[in-house]
Amino acid sequence: MTTKIGIILGSTRPGRNGEAVARWIHQLAVQRGDAEFELVDLLDYKLPHLDEALPPSLGQYAQPHTQAWAAKIASFDGFVFVTPEYNHSTSGALKNAIDFLYGEWNNKACGFVSYGSAGGTRAVEHLRLIAAELQMADVRGQVALSLFTDFENFSVFKPGDHQLQSVNGMLDQVVAWSEALSPLRAA
Ligand SMILES: Cc1cc2nc3c(=O)[nH]c(=O)nc-3n(C[C@H](O)[C@H](O)[C@H](O)COP(=O)(O)O)c2cc1C
Repeated sequence: MTTKIGIILGSTRPGRNGEAVARWIHQLAVQRGDAEFELVDLLDYKLPHLDEALPPSLGQYAQPHTQAWAAKIASFDGFVFVTPEYNHSTSGALKNAIDFLYGEWNNKACGFVSYGSAGGTRAVEHLRLIAAELQMADVRGQVALSLFTDFENFSVFKPGDHQLQSVNGMLDQVVAWSEALSPLRAA
């Protein structure tokens, strides 16, 4: 079966830089041919602040928006999280969307693409801790985009050529680890 990787666009604000970044990653990913890649925009799922009474680890979701989100995340074998850096962490919107679910994240690989004044690296360090609690395998390779050198005027996305290598290195690992973990998901 084809390995399916979700590229999760983790910022939701009007005028977000994240959209251009996530579209670029998706465009590069689909050229590879080693997996199916789908762009998942949090805006499309309209998740409120977490409003489920039961802990997500029970997998008993009462709200239709949670059920739709769970079905989408369950359909993937691995993920690329595209995250901004807000106050030295990821976005509240992405953390909230992650918190809604549990089992749908387990035993899957994830890689990170971040952007910010220091490449968004502090957001990724937080996401790696979160991934551990979700029983996800976070790959080492990551893409750190600088607001100073990969954007013009901090808003027009013009990634440096050297970033291509880090994108493909990260995707190589995400695809390989997603496949390697499939026996655990089957169990
Ligand atoms: C609430 C907020 C907090 C921010 N905090 C940081 C920060 O701690 N470090 C940083 O490098 N950039 C920070 N920034 C700048 C963002 O990285 C930059 O605006 C980026 O484009 C945000 O992603 P988005 O455009 O997809 O929303 C912050 C921006 C916002 C809106």
